Amino acid sequence: MYPERPAGIAFGGDYNPEQWPREVLEEDVALMREAGVNLVSLGMFAWALMEPSEGRYEFGWLDEIVDRLHEAGVAVNLATPTAAPPAWLVARHPDVLPVTREGTRIGFGGRQSACSSAPAFLEATARLVRALGEHYRDHPAVVMWHVHNEYGAPLGECYCEHSVAAWREWLQLKYCDISALNDAWGATFWGQTYGDWPEIDAPRLNNTVVNPAQRLDYARFSDGEHRAHYALQRDILRELTPGIPVTTNFAGTVNCKSADLWRWARELDVVANDHYLKAERPDNHIDLAMSADLARSVAGGAPWMLMEHSAGAVNWQPRNLAKRPGEMRRNSLAHVARGSDSVLFFQFRASRFGAEKFHSGLVPHAGTDSEQWREVVRLGADLRGLAEVRGSRVRAEVAIVWDWESYWALELDWRPSVDLTFRERVDAFYEALWREHITVDFVHPSADFSGYRVVVAPSSYLLAEASAKNLHRYVEAGGNLLVSYFSGIVDEHDTVHPGAHPGALRELLGLSIEEFHPLREHETVALTGGGTGADTARIWSERVRPAGAVPVRNFAAGPDAGHPAFTRHDLGAGTAWYLATAPVTGLRELLAGVLDHAGVTRPRGLSDALELVRRGAHTFLINHGDDPVTVEGVTGTSVFDGVRHDGPVTVPPGAVVVVVETPRP
Ligand code: GLA
Repeated sequence: MYPERPAGIAFGGDYNPEQWPREVLEEDVALMREAGVNLVSLGMFAWALMEPSEGRYEFGWLDEIVDRLHEAGVAVNLATPTAAPPAWLVARHPDVLPVTREGTRIGFGGRQSACSSAPAFLEATARLVRALGEHYRDHPAVVMWHVHNEYGAPLGECYCEHSVAAWREWLQLKYCDISALNDAWGATFWGQTYGDWPEIDAPRLNNTVVNPAQRLDYARFSDGEHRAHYALQRDILRELTPGIPVTTNFAGTVNCKSADLWRWARELDVVANDHYLKAERPDNHIDLAMSADLARSVAGGAPWMLMEHSAGAVNWQPRNLAKRPGEMRRNSLAHVARGSDSVLFFQFRASRFGAEKFHSGLVPHAGTDSEQWREVVRLGADLRGLAEVRGSRVRAEVAIVWDWESYWALELDWRPSVDLTFRERVDAFYEALWREHITVDFVHPSADFSGYRVVVAPSSYLLAEASAKNLHRYVEAGGNLLVSYFSGIVDEHDTVHPGAHPGALRELLGLSIEEFHPLREHETVALTGGGTGADTARIWSERVRPAGAVPVRNFAAGPDAGHPAFTRHDLGAGTAWYLATAPVTGLRELLAGVLDHAGVTRPRGLSDALELVRRGAHTFLINHGDDPVTVEGVTGTSVFDGVRHDGPVTVPPGAVVVVVETPRP
């Protein structure tokens, strides 16, 4: 259920007028009208103002703001402020403060300073949300509910007494019988067998590595506790305002490791995502694209909301680079291209005080006589021009397998190499596909893959048997699956699948691994073949023993010289490919071979500075480079200037052209 209002693309962001004198509201409203802001998120961190002391609710100050915005035609995304529990709650119930894995109870003064399992926090949450919901249930300005803020960031796991009590209950529900838990956790290893539930603790800091299956379950449990805290609020709001969508904003699909967003997305009426650029990464627009594609994917392909991004610099990275002219526009339109029906920011007006005073806003400290404000006004106009994009869908022929549980498991301690990380491989494949101008969906390994010509499984370390069978069926039915090393190694309890690696995928890939040979830091090994014949690889080498698979490329040097590095296995109507290393060069070429084999069409010879995405009838052409780029074969009308195209379109450096298919005159 996407919010009905505002019409078109929502534009605006977090608005914190409580930080400003009353007269600034008038100025802000005027500026919102100037820029075409039509949606703001209010009240996110205002619990202490909404409930100044226990049970005393004060919404008068907020009424004035909501009414004024409504008068001005700005819709309200009303937040429940539970990410900022007030001082009185913490003083009265110090046990709501979370405890870190190291055993430190955190203090008051930041945010997210309450444990999602603490009874006093849950009770106070329910009371406040009910009061808020009852107060605003009939207010015409309120078009959606924004619960909490970025669950999981920074509070992922809590190790307090309430968490441990809830954890034991969770385990009992999951395993029923303590011997089932002992089996699942491999408790005979290091003599950890439990006789009864109260013996079980959270996987606290230890002088060595803690049982990985226990840690994996704790990650699942902790994420579930936050989801329960969300659901508590959502259910109250749904009861009071059944027609109003409820959501919470993800702390960046690709960046918040602790939240399993496949599970989260099922609980939301509309998926909402925050994304902040990694300022120093020169091609950070690729990370942005990946975040947006993952948001669309967890939304099941439905339009989603970009709930926050930044107009300029953030303030929490080591070096907070301001956005260059045009960059905010490119960023915003890239999110829309990839399925967002909103362009919202943190925050409308840059704060003068507090922890985020050096964070940009739509209205910067410099005021409106600034390049930034002029860009904001221009963006508002652009988005009005894109109103018809709303609701349309992006189609992808290629998918990447993404599973948070595998992500968690892969990055627990004591793996064969510290260089094995989930994002390292996913990013490598995503980037190569992005540069091939391929739009990618992300999929859970148990999903229906039948709509994809190619599925890539990078470092799918944890793979349940049922998911492995799913991959098998996909290939047999004609799919193309590309698996990279260290995939299909363990089951859902981090127990190695029986027999030689990769236990879950041996048959499908037509090979087994005799031995892992991780490389030294900075070591590279040469590969045979390839266009230039000079490709090298890093991080990983292993002894592949084909059993049906055919070598396509071999290791030319290193511990596995003369043995396969890249193989192909035709199975049923499809093909399973396996890449046993991390190419430094040549990944794109290798992927291109798989894409060609699968008949995936894409523009050839187009500069990889140009981002090309199709959404419904609209083609987005975003030039991230310093030179003009000409794209061939574009037919339609340019949305921003009305120019008709039938053939080549030249996109100036840094510019965005959106072309909508229109019938020939
Ligand atoms: C997050 C939060 C916001 C704000 C921004 C700053 O996304 O949700 O409240 O702190 O970061 O970048």
